[in-house]
Amino acid sequence: MNMQPPVQIIILGASGDLTSRKLVPALARLSKGGTPFRLIGLSRRPMTDEAFRLQLGDALVGEELEAFQSMAERVHYVSGDVQSPEDMGRLASRLDQLPEGEKAGRLFYLSLRPDLFIPAVESLSECGLLRQTEPSDPWRRLVAEKPFGHDRISAQALNRALHDRLREDQIYRIDHYLAKDTVQNLFAFRFNNAIFEPLWNRQHVELVEITVAEELGVERGRAGYYDSVGALRDMLQNHMLQILALIAMEPPSSLDPEAIRDQKVGVLKALRLPHGGQGVRARYGPGEIQGRPLRGYLQEEGVPGDSTAETFVAVRAMIENWRWAGVPFLLRHGKRLPKRFTEVKVHFRVPPIQLFDRMEGGALQTLDDGTVCRLRPNLLTLSIQPREALSLSFGVKAPGSGQAMAPAELAFDYRERFGPSGATAYERLLQDAMQGDATLFLRTDEVEASWAFADALRATWEGQGTPMLEYPSGSWGPPEAEALFQGCEGAWSRG
Ligand code: BG6
Repeated sequence: MNMQPPVQIIILGASGDLTSRKLVPALARLSKGGTPFRLIGLSRRPMTDEAFRLQLGDALVGEELEAFQSMAERVHYVSGDVQSPEDMGRLASRLDQLPEGEKAGRLFYLSLRPDLFIPAVESLSECGLLRQTEPSDPWRRLVAEKPFGHDRISAQALNRALHDRLREDQIYRIDHYLAKDTVQNLFAFRFNNAIFEPLWNRQHVELVEITVAEELGVERGRAGYYDSVGALRDMLQNHMLQILALIAMEPPSSLDPEAIRDQKVGVLKALRLPHGGQGVRARYGPGEIQGRPLRGYLQEEGVPGDSTAETFVAVRAMIENWRWAGVPFLLRHGKRLPKRFTEVKVHFRVPPIQLFDRMEGGALQTLDDGTVCRLRPNLLTLSIQPREALSLSFGVKAPGSGQAMAPAELAFDYRERFGPSGATAYERLLQDAMQGDATLFLRTDEVEASWAFADALRATWEGQGTPMLEYPSGSWGPPEAEALFQGCEGAWSRG
Protein backbone atom coordinates (compact mmCIF):
# COMPACT_ATOMS: atom_id res chain seq x y z
CA MET A 1 0.00 0.00 0.00
CA ASN A 2 1.40 3.39 -0.86
CA MET A 3 0.58 6.07 1.65
CA GLN A 4 1.29 9.72 0.89
CA PRO A 5 2.93 11.48 2.58
CA PRO A 6 5.41 9.16 4.33
CA VAL A 7 4.55 8.69 7.98
CA GLN A 8 6.47 9.28 11.18
CA ILE A 9 5.04 7.61 14.27
CA ILE A 10 6.32 9.22 17.42
CA ILE A 11 5.74 7.33 20.66
CA LEU A 12 5.94 9.60 23.68
CA GLY A 13 6.64 7.40 26.70
CA ALA A 14 8.44 4.81 24.61
CA SER A 15 10.03 3.01 27.55
CA GLY A 16 6.64 1.93 28.93
CA ASP A 17 5.44 -1.64 28.63
CA LEU A 18 2.72 -0.72 26.12
CA THR A 19 5.41 0.05 23.55
CA SER A 20 7.06 -3.35 23.75
CA ARG A 21 3.94 -5.37 24.57
CA LYS A 22 1.45 -3.99 22.05
CA LEU A 23 2.71 -1.17 19.83
CA VAL A 24 5.97 -2.54 18.48
CA PRO A 25 4.60 -6.02 17.67
CA ALA A 26 1.71 -4.33 15.86
CA LEU A 27 4.04 -1.97 14.00
CA ALA A 28 6.35 -4.84 13.03
CA ARG A 29 3.38 -6.70 11.53
CA LEU A 30 2.19 -3.58 9.72
CA SER A 31 5.65 -3.01 8.33
CA LYS A 32 5.80 -6.59 7.12
CA GLY A 33 2.43 -6.07 5.47
CA GLY A 34 3.93 -3.20 3.47
CA THR A 35 2.80 -0.12 5.41
CA PRO A 36 5.69 2.36 5.22
CA PHE A 37 6.50 4.44 8.29
CA ARG A 38 9.33 5.47 10.53
CA LEU A 39 9.19 4.98 14.30
CA ILE A 40 10.65 7.47 16.72
CA GLY A 41 10.58 6.68 20.45
CA LEU A 42 10.93 9.32 23.12
CA SER A 43 11.40 8.89 26.83
CA ARG A 44 13.59 10.34 29.53
CA ARG A 45 16.30 7.70 29.70
CA PRO A 46 19.37 8.52 27.55
CA MET A 47 19.82 5.84 24.91
CA THR A 48 21.19 5.53 21.40
CA ASP A 49 19.08 4.47 18.42
CA GLU A 50 20.94 1.17 18.46
CA ALA A 51 20.25 0.51 22.16
CA PHE A 52 16.56 1.32 21.61
CA ARG A 53 16.37 -1.09 18.69
CA LEU A 54 18.02 -3.83 20.75
CA GLN A 55 15.67 -3.22 23.65
CA LEU A 56 12.59 -3.46 21.44
CA GLY A 57 13.94 -6.52 19.64
CA ASP A 58 14.55 -8.28 22.97
CA ALA A 59 10.82 -8.25 23.68
CA LEU A 60 9.93 -9.97 20.40
CA VAL A 61 10.14 -13.51 19.10
CA GLY A 62 9.51 -15.42 15.89
CA GLU A 63 7.91 -13.68 12.93
CA GLU A 64 7.44 -10.42 14.81
CA LEU A 65 11.13 -10.29 15.63
CA GLU A 66 12.03 -10.96 12.00
CA ALA A 67 9.63 -8.28 10.82
CA PHE A 68 11.05 -5.85 13.37
CA GLN A 69 14.62 -6.56 12.29
CA SER A 70 13.79 -5.62 8.74
CA MET A 71 12.31 -2.29 9.84
CA ALA A 72 14.97 -1.62 12.52
CA GLU A 73 16.91 0.94 10.47
CA ARG A 74 13.76 3.08 10.42
CA VAL A 75 13.57 3.05 14.24
CA HIS A 76 15.06 5.98 16.14
CA TYR A 77 15.24 7.30 19.64
CA VAL A 78 15.27 10.75 21.23
CA SER A 79 15.72 11.16 24.96
CA GLY A 80 13.73 13.94 26.52
CA ASP A 81 11.11 15.07 28.94
CA VAL A 82 7.68 15.59 27.42
CA GLN A 83 7.12 18.51 29.78
CA SER A 84 10.10 20.40 28.46
CA PRO A 85 9.59 22.58 25.38
CA GLU A 86 13.38 22.52 24.85
CA ASP A 87 13.39 18.74 24.68
CA MET A 88 10.40 18.82 22.36
CA GLY A 89 12.31 21.34 20.28
CA ARG A 90 15.11 18.77 19.97
CA LEU A 91 12.55 16.18 18.98
CA ALA A 92 11.24 18.56 16.29
CA SER A 93 14.74 19.07 14.84
CA ARG A 94 15.37 15.33 14.81
CA LEU A 95 12.09 14.69 13.01
CA ASP A 96 12.87 17.38 10.45
CA GLN A 97 16.33 15.92 9.82
CA LEU A 98 15.00 12.49 8.93
CA PRO A 99 14.79 11.92 5.14
CA GLU A 100 11.07 12.67 4.79
CA GLY A 101 11.45 15.67 7.12
CA GLU A 102 8.50 17.91 7.82
CA LYS A 103 6.62 16.69 4.79
CA ALA A 104 5.83 13.50 6.69
CA GLY A 105 2.41 12.91 8.17
CA ARG A 106 3.03 12.72 11.92
CA LEU A 107 1.24 10.55 14.42
CA PHE A 108 2.05 11.48 18.01
CA TYR A 109 1.18 8.58 20.27
CA LEU A 110 0.75 9.55 23.92
CA SER A 111 1.70 6.45 25.85
CA LEU A 112 2.10 8.44 29.04
CA ARG A 113 0.81 8.70 32.56
CA PRO A 114 -2.49 10.60 32.35
CA ASP A 115 -1.11 13.55 34.33
CA LEU A 116 1.50 14.09 31.60
CA PHE A 117 -1.01 14.39 28.75
CA ILE A 118 -1.69 18.11 29.04
CA PRO A 119 1.97 19.13 29.60
CA ALA A 120 3.00 16.96 26.64
CA VAL A 121 0.38 18.47 24.35
CA GLU A 122 1.36 21.96 25.48
CA SER A 123 5.01 21.45 24.72
CA LEU A 124 4.34 19.72 21.40
CA SER A 125 2.14 22.61 20.45
CA GLU A 126 4.63 25.24 21.60
CA CYS A 127 7.19 23.75 19.24
CA GLY A 128 4.71 23.88 16.38
CA LEU A 129 4.63 20.11 16.11
CA LEU A 130 0.83 19.91 16.04
CA ARG A 131 0.24 22.68 13.52
CA GLN A 132 -1.98 21.71 10.60
CA THR A 133 -3.95 24.71 9.46
CA GLU A 134 -3.84 24.82 5.66
CA PRO A 135 -5.37 22.01 3.58
CA SER A 136 -1.95 21.59 1.95
CA ASP A 137 -0.22 21.05 5.32
CA PRO A 138 0.93 17.51 6.01
CA TRP A 139 -1.32 15.93 8.61
CA ARG A 140 -0.61 16.02 12.33
CA ARG A 141 -2.57 13.65 14.56
CA LEU A 142 -2.53 12.76 18.21
CA VAL A 143 -3.38 9.36 19.60
CA ALA A 144 -4.29 9.37 23.29
CA GLU A 145 -4.01 6.10 25.16
CA LYS A 146 -6.47 5.34 27.89
CA PRO A 147 -7.28 6.14 30.59
CA PHE A 148 -8.36 9.44 29.17
CA GLY A 149 -8.29 11.54 32.33
CA HIS A 150 -8.78 10.37 35.87
CA ASP A 151 -12.41 11.30 36.24
CA ARG A 152 -14.98 13.35 34.36
CA ILE A 153 -13.61 16.71 35.44
CA SER A 154 -10.06 15.87 34.38
CA ALA A 155 -11.31 14.34 31.11
CA GLN A 156 -13.14 17.59 30.40
CA ALA A 157 -10.03 19.60 31.21
CA LEU A 158 -8.00 17.35 28.94
CA ASN A 159 -10.52 17.70 26.14
CA ARG A 160 -10.42 21.49 26.52
CA ALA A 161 -6.62 21.47 26.45
CA LEU A 162 -6.64 19.34 23.31
CA HIS A 163 -9.31 21.41 21.61
CA ASP A 164 -7.30 24.57 22.28
CA ARG A 165 -4.53 23.15 20.13
CA LEU A 166 -6.07 20.60 17.80
CA ARG A 167 -9.27 20.05 15.86
CA GLU A 168 -11.41 17.10 17.00
CA ASP A 169 -10.58 15.31 13.72
CA GLN A 170 -6.88 15.36 14.69
CA ILE A 171 -7.57 13.55 17.99
CA TYR A 172 -7.72 9.76 18.22
CA ARG A 173 -8.78 8.47 21.65
CA ILE A 174 -7.99 4.80 21.85
CA ASP A 175 -10.00 2.01 23.30
CA HIS A 176 -8.31 -1.03 21.84
CA TYR A 177 -11.31 -3.27 22.58
CA LEU A 178 -13.18 -1.53 19.78
CA ALA A 179 -10.70 -2.93 17.28
CA LYS A 180 -11.28 -6.54 18.27
CA ASP A 181 -13.31 -8.31 15.60
CA THR A 182 -15.53 -9.94 18.17
CA VAL A 183 -16.32 -6.58 19.78
CA GLN A 184 -17.17 -5.12 16.39
CA ASN A 185 -19.33 -8.15 15.83
CA LEU A 186 -21.52 -7.22 18.81
CA PHE A 187 -22.73 -4.33 16.70
CA ALA A 188 -22.84 -6.22 13.40
CA PHE A 189 -24.62 -9.21 14.91
CA ARG A 190 -27.32 -7.03 16.44
CA PHE A 191 -27.99 -4.83 13.47
CA ASN A 192 -27.64 -7.32 10.65
CA ASN A 193 -29.92 -9.96 12.13
CA ALA A 194 -33.49 -8.81 12.52
CA ILE A 195 -34.55 -11.93 14.43
CA PHE A 196 -33.02 -10.75 17.70
CA GLU A 197 -34.30 -7.19 17.64
CA PRO A 198 -37.84 -7.99 18.88
CA LEU A 199 -36.28 -9.81 21.85
CA TRP A 200 -33.64 -7.23 22.65
CA ASN A 201 -35.42 -5.33 25.39
CA ARG A 202 -36.88 -5.41 28.90
CA GLN A 203 -39.82 -7.58 27.85
CA HIS A 204 -37.62 -10.53 26.95
CA VAL A 205 -34.22 -10.00 28.54
CA GLU A 206 -33.89 -10.81 32.22
CA LEU A 207 -30.33 -9.62 32.69
CA VAL A 208 -27.08 -9.04 30.86
CA GLU A 209 -23.77 -10.21 32.26
CA ILE A 210 -20.42 -8.86 31.07
CA THR A 211 -17.15 -10.35 32.29
CA VAL A 212 -13.56 -9.45 31.53
CA ALA A 213 -11.47 -11.97 33.47
CA GLU A 214 -7.68 -11.94 33.37
CA GLU A 215 -5.12 -14.37 34.65
CA LEU A 216 -2.48 -11.67 34.49
CA GLY A 217 -1.65 -9.70 37.58
CA VAL A 218 0.15 -6.40 37.52
CA GLU A 219 2.99 -7.00 35.16
CA ARG A 220 6.56 -5.94 35.65
CA GLY A 221 7.09 -2.21 35.47
CA ARG A 222 3.37 -1.48 35.47
CA ALA A 223 2.68 -1.04 39.15
CA GLY A 224 3.24 2.73 39.09
CA TYR A 225 0.56 3.25 36.48
CA TYR A 226 -1.81 0.55 37.68
CA ASP A 227 -1.76 1.59 41.29
CA SER A 228 -2.78 5.11 40.36
CA VAL A 229 -5.87 3.88 38.53
CA GLY A 230 -7.10 0.47 39.75
CA ALA A 231 -9.53 -1.85 37.98
CA LEU A 232 -12.45 0.58 37.77
CA ARG A 233 -10.47 3.17 35.84
CA ASP A 234 -8.24 0.73 33.99
CA MET A 235 -10.92 -1.55 32.53
CA LEU A 236 -14.49 -0.83 33.56
CA GLN A 237 -14.70 2.85 32.67
CA ASN A 238 -13.50 2.21 29.14
CA HIS A 239 -13.41 -1.33 27.68
CA MET A 240 -16.36 -2.69 29.62
CA LEU A 241 -18.60 0.32 29.14
CA GLN A 242 -17.85 0.25 25.42
CA ILE A 243 -18.98 -3.37 25.30
CA LEU A 244 -22.08 -2.44 27.26
CA ALA A 245 -22.80 0.46 24.91
CA LEU A 246 -22.60 -1.80 21.85
CA ILE A 247 -24.94 -4.32 23.46
CA ALA A 248 -27.48 -1.77 24.64
CA MET A 249 -27.41 1.07 22.06
CA GLU A 250 -30.32 1.93 19.78
CA PRO A 251 -29.84 1.23 16.06
CA PRO A 252 -27.93 4.03 14.34
CA SER A 253 -29.34 5.56 11.17
CA SER A 254 -26.20 4.67 9.20
CA LEU A 255 -22.67 3.36 9.62
CA ASP A 256 -21.37 6.89 9.79
CA PRO A 257 -19.04 7.09 12.85
CA GLU A 258 -20.98 10.05 14.24
CA ALA A 259 -24.31 8.23 13.92
CA ILE A 260 -22.90 5.25 15.82
CA ARG A 261 -21.30 7.36 18.50
CA ASP A 262 -24.52 9.34 19.00
CA GLN A 263 -26.33 6.14 19.93
CA LYS A 264 -23.53 4.88 22.16
CA VAL A 265 -23.51 8.16 24.05
CA GLY A 266 -27.27 7.90 24.51
CA VAL A 267 -26.84 4.63 26.42
CA LEU A 268 -23.86 5.76 28.45
CA LYS A 269 -25.75 8.84 29.57
CA ALA A 270 -28.64 6.66 30.79
CA LEU A 271 -26.39 4.41 32.88
CA ARG A 272 -27.06 4.45 36.64
CA LEU A 273 -26.18 2.63 39.81
CA PRO A 274 -29.31 1.11 41.30
CA HIS A 275 -30.55 2.73 44.49
CA GLY A 276 -28.20 1.70 47.32
CA GLY A 277 -25.95 -0.22 44.91
CA GLN A 278 -22.24 0.04 45.55
CA GLY A 279 -20.82 -3.01 43.83
CA VAL A 280 -17.78 -4.84 45.11
CA ARG A 281 -14.12 -3.87 45.09
CA ALA A 282 -11.28 -6.15 46.00
CA ARG A 283 -7.63 -6.90 45.42
CA TYR A 284 -5.85 -10.17 44.92
CA GLY A 285 -3.89 -11.79 47.70
CA PRO A 286 -1.37 -14.61 47.40
CA GLY A 287 -2.59 -17.79 45.74
CA GLU A 288 -1.90 -19.95 42.73
CA ILE A 289 -3.04 -20.49 39.17
CA GLN A 290 -2.54 -23.94 37.64
CA GLY A 291 -0.08 -24.90 40.33
CA ARG A 292 1.98 -21.72 39.90
CA PRO A 293 2.36 -19.91 43.25
CA LEU A 294 1.63 -16.20 43.00
CA ARG A 295 2.15 -13.29 45.30
CA GLY A 296 -0.52 -10.89 46.35
CA TYR A 297 -1.00 -7.44 44.83
CA LEU A 298 0.58 -5.68 47.81
CA GLN A 299 3.72 -7.81 47.42
CA GLU A 300 4.11 -6.97 43.70
CA GLU A 301 7.22 -4.98 42.84
CA GLY A 302 6.51 -1.26 42.96
CA VAL A 303 3.12 -1.43 44.69
CA PRO A 304 3.08 0.89 47.72
CA GLY A 305 2.24 -0.73 51.06
CA ASP A 306 -0.62 1.71 51.60
CA SER A 307 -2.13 1.09 48.15
CA THR A 308 -5.85 1.67 47.78
CA ALA A 309 -6.11 0.33 44.22
CA GLU A 310 -8.60 -2.44 43.51
CA THR A 311 -7.78 -5.26 41.10
CA PHE A 312 -11.35 -6.55 41.00
CA VAL A 313 -14.56 -4.67 40.47
CA ALA A 314 -18.10 -5.95 40.07
CA VAL A 315 -21.20 -3.85 39.82
CA ARG A 316 -24.87 -4.01 39.01
CA ALA A 317 -25.77 -1.20 36.64
CA MET A 318 -29.10 -0.09 35.26
CA ILE A 319 -29.93 1.70 32.03
CA GLU A 320 -32.74 4.12 32.49
CA ASN A 321 -34.38 4.18 29.11
CA TRP A 322 -37.47 2.66 27.52
CA ARG A 323 -35.68 -0.36 26.17
CA TRP A 324 -33.80 -1.40 29.29
CA ALA A 325 -35.47 0.02 32.40
CA GLY A 326 -35.42 -2.66 35.10
CA VAL A 327 -32.91 -4.96 33.36
CA PRO A 328 -29.71 -5.32 35.39
CA PHE A 329 -26.40 -5.15 33.55
CA LEU A 330 -23.90 -7.00 35.71
CA LEU A 331 -20.29 -6.06 35.07
CA ARG A 332 -17.28 -7.88 36.51
CA HIS A 333 -13.57 -7.53 35.92
CA GLY A 334 -10.66 -8.93 37.85
CA LYS A 335 -6.98 -9.69 37.58
CA ARG A 336 -5.50 -13.00 38.76
CA LEU A 337 -8.71 -14.93 38.17
CA PRO A 338 -8.43 -18.61 37.23
CA LYS A 339 -8.57 -17.97 33.50
CA ARG A 340 -8.68 -15.30 30.85
CA PHE A 341 -11.98 -14.74 29.13
CA THR A 342 -14.14 -11.88 27.98
CA GLU A 343 -17.76 -12.64 27.45
CA VAL A 344 -21.26 -11.20 27.29
CA LYS A 345 -24.22 -13.32 28.31
CA VAL A 346 -27.73 -12.20 27.52
CA HIS A 347 -30.13 -14.11 29.74
CA PHE A 348 -33.66 -14.33 28.34
CA ARG A 349 -36.69 -14.67 30.56
CA VAL A 350 -38.19 -18.04 31.42
CA PRO A 351 -41.43 -19.13 29.75
CA PRO A 352 -44.42 -17.94 31.75
CA ILE A 353 -45.37 -21.47 32.75
CA GLN A 354 -43.02 -24.40 33.26
CA LEU A 355 -44.61 -27.33 31.42
CA PHE A 356 -41.58 -29.53 31.07
CA ASP A 357 -39.06 -31.16 33.31
CA ARG A 358 -35.42 -30.54 32.75
CA MET A 359 -33.25 -33.59 32.76
CA GLU A 360 -30.07 -32.18 34.20
CA GLY A 361 -30.55 -30.95 37.71
CA GLY A 362 -34.34 -30.81 37.45
CA ALA A 363 -36.51 -27.94 36.33
CA LEU A 364 -36.51 -26.16 39.64
CA GLN A 365 -33.82 -25.01 41.96
CA THR A 366 -34.29 -23.92 45.57
CA LEU A 367 -32.22 -21.09 46.96
CA ASP A 368 -30.94 -20.96 50.55
CA ASP A 369 -33.77 -18.63 51.54
CA GLY A 370 -36.31 -21.12 50.20
CA THR A 371 -37.14 -19.27 46.96
CA VAL A 372 -37.88 -21.73 44.19
CA CYS A 373 -36.37 -20.73 40.84
CA ARG A 374 -37.07 -22.07 37.40
CA LEU A 375 -34.01 -22.73 35.28
CA ARG A 376 -33.66 -20.41 32.34
CA PRO A 377 -33.25 -22.29 29.07
CA ASN A 378 -32.38 -19.41 26.75
CA LEU A 379 -29.06 -17.71 26.92
CA LEU A 380 -27.08 -15.98 24.22
CA THR A 381 -23.33 -16.10 24.87
CA LEU A 382 -21.06 -13.79 22.93
CA SER A 383 -17.50 -14.92 23.60
CA ILE A 384 -15.05 -12.15 22.77
CA GLN A 385 -11.71 -13.73 23.74
CA PRO A 386 -9.77 -15.96 23.78
CA ARG A 387 -12.62 -18.05 22.31
CA GLU A 388 -14.25 -16.09 19.55
CA ALA A 389 -17.68 -17.57 19.35
CA LEU A 390 -21.43 -17.20 19.67
CA SER A 391 -23.84 -19.67 21.14
CA LEU A 392 -27.54 -19.77 21.81
CA SER A 393 -28.78 -22.27 24.33
CA PHE A 394 -32.26 -23.73 24.47
CA GLY A 395 -34.07 -26.82 25.68
CA VAL A 396 -34.94 -29.83 23.53
CA LYS A 397 -37.03 -32.82 24.36
CA ALA A 398 -34.87 -35.70 25.52
CA PRO A 399 -35.64 -38.93 23.66
CA GLY A 400 -37.99 -41.28 25.46
CA SER A 401 -41.53 -41.45 26.63
CA GLY A 402 -41.44 -38.76 29.35
CA GLN A 403 -41.45 -34.98 28.98
CA ALA A 404 -37.89 -34.41 30.15
CA MET A 405 -35.96 -31.64 28.47
CA ALA A 406 -32.24 -31.50 27.82
CA PRO A 407 -30.09 -28.41 27.32
CA ALA A 408 -28.82 -27.89 23.75
CA GLU A 409 -26.89 -25.22 21.88
CA LEU A 410 -26.55 -23.60 18.48
CA ALA A 411 -22.93 -22.59 18.23
CA PHE A 412 -20.67 -20.66 15.92
CA ASP A 413 -16.89 -20.37 16.22
CA TYR A 414 -15.01 -17.64 14.40
CA ARG A 415 -11.81 -19.60 13.94
CA GLU A 416 -13.53 -22.74 12.73
CA ARG A 417 -15.33 -20.65 10.14
CA PHE A 418 -12.69 -18.07 9.16
CA GLY A 419 -9.37 -19.55 10.32
CA PRO A 420 -6.93 -17.80 12.70
CA SER A 421 -7.73 -14.18 13.45
CA GLY A 422 -6.00 -11.60 11.28
CA ALA A 423 -4.77 -8.19 12.38
CA THR A 424 -4.43 -7.51 16.10
CA ALA A 425 -6.37 -4.67 17.69
CA TYR A 426 -3.37 -2.33 17.83
CA GLU A 427 -2.42 -3.06 14.24
CA ARG A 428 -5.89 -2.10 13.11
CA LEU A 429 -5.94 1.06 15.24
CA LEU A 430 -2.51 2.26 14.19
CA GLN A 431 -3.35 1.70 10.57
CA ASP A 432 -6.69 3.49 10.89
CA ALA A 433 -5.06 6.45 12.64
CA MET A 434 -2.43 6.67 9.87
CA GLN A 435 -5.23 6.63 7.31
CA GLY A 436 -7.36 9.16 9.19
CA ASP A 437 -10.26 6.80 9.90
CA ALA A 438 -11.70 7.65 13.32
CA THR A 439 -14.51 5.08 13.40
CA LEU A 440 -12.91 2.93 16.09
CA PHE A 441 -11.87 5.82 18.31
CA LEU A 442 -13.84 7.55 21.04
CA ARG A 443 -15.56 10.91 20.87
CA THR A 444 -15.29 13.49 23.65
CA ASP A 445 -18.81 13.03 24.97
CA GLU A 446 -18.54 9.22 25.05
CA VAL A 447 -15.51 9.45 27.27
CA GLU A 448 -17.11 11.99 29.56
CA ALA A 449 -20.35 9.99 29.91
CA SER A 450 -18.35 6.86 30.81
CA TRP A 451 -16.49 8.79 33.46
CA ALA A 452 -19.75 10.04 34.94
CA PHE A 453 -20.69 6.42 35.73
CA ALA A 454 -17.23 5.47 37.03
CA ASP A 455 -17.17 8.62 39.17
CA ALA A 456 -20.58 7.81 40.64
CA LEU A 457 -19.36 4.34 41.63
CA ARG A 458 -16.16 5.67 43.13
CA ALA A 459 -18.04 8.37 45.05
CA THR A 460 -20.33 5.67 46.43
CA TRP A 461 -17.33 3.61 47.53
CA GLU A 462 -15.86 6.61 49.27
CA GLY A 463 -19.16 7.85 50.70
CA GLN A 464 -20.24 4.48 52.03
CA GLY A 465 -16.80 3.22 53.01
CA THR A 466 -17.17 0.18 50.74
CA PRO A 467 -14.58 -2.26 52.09
CA MET A 468 -11.59 -3.35 50.01
CA LEU A 469 -12.03 -7.12 50.05
CA GLU A 470 -9.29 -9.62 49.33
CA TYR A 471 -9.48 -12.74 47.16
CA PRO A 472 -6.82 -15.38 46.67
CA SER A 473 -5.06 -15.25 43.29
CA GLY A 474 -6.59 -18.00 41.20
CA SER A 475 -10.05 -17.70 42.75
CA TRP A 476 -13.10 -16.15 41.09
CA GLY A 477 -12.98 -13.08 43.29
CA PRO A 478 -14.65 -12.40 46.62
CA PRO A 479 -17.84 -14.36 47.35
CA GLU A 480 -19.57 -11.01 47.96
CA ALA A 481 -19.59 -10.48 44.18
CA GLU A 482 -22.00 -13.41 43.85
CA ALA A 483 -24.54 -11.46 45.87
CA LEU A 484 -24.88 -8.99 42.99
CA PHE A 485 -27.04 -11.67 41.41
CA GLN A 486 -30.29 -11.55 43.28
CA GLY A 487 -33.03 -14.10 43.77
CA CYS A 488 -33.35 -16.42 40.78
CA GLU A 489 -30.97 -14.54 38.52
CA GLY A 490 -28.20 -17.18 38.57
CA ALA A 491 -24.47 -16.79 39.13
CA TRP A 492 -21.40 -15.37 37.41
CA SER A 493 -20.11 -17.22 34.38
CA ARG A 494 -16.91 -19.24 34.72
CA GLY A 495 -16.17 -18.90 31.00
C1 BG6 B 1 -5.48 -2.63 29.02
C2 BG6 B 1 -5.36 -2.58 30.51
O1 BG6 B 1 -6.21 -1.54 28.54
O2 BG6 B 1 -6.15 -3.83 28.66
C3 BG6 B 1 -4.63 -3.81 31.04
O3 BG6 B 1 -4.65 -1.41 30.88
C4 BG6 B 1 -5.29 -5.07 30.54
O4 BG6 B 1 -4.60 -3.80 32.46
C5 BG6 B 1 -5.46 -5.01 29.04
O5 BG6 B 1 -4.47 -6.17 30.90
C6 BG6 B 1 -6.26 -6.19 28.54
O6 BG6 B 1 -6.28 -6.15 27.15
P1 BG6 B 1 -6.52 -7.49 26.32
O7 BG6 B 1 -6.64 -7.03 24.91
O8 BG6 B 1 -5.34 -8.36 26.58
O9 BG6 B 1 -7.79 -8.08 26.88
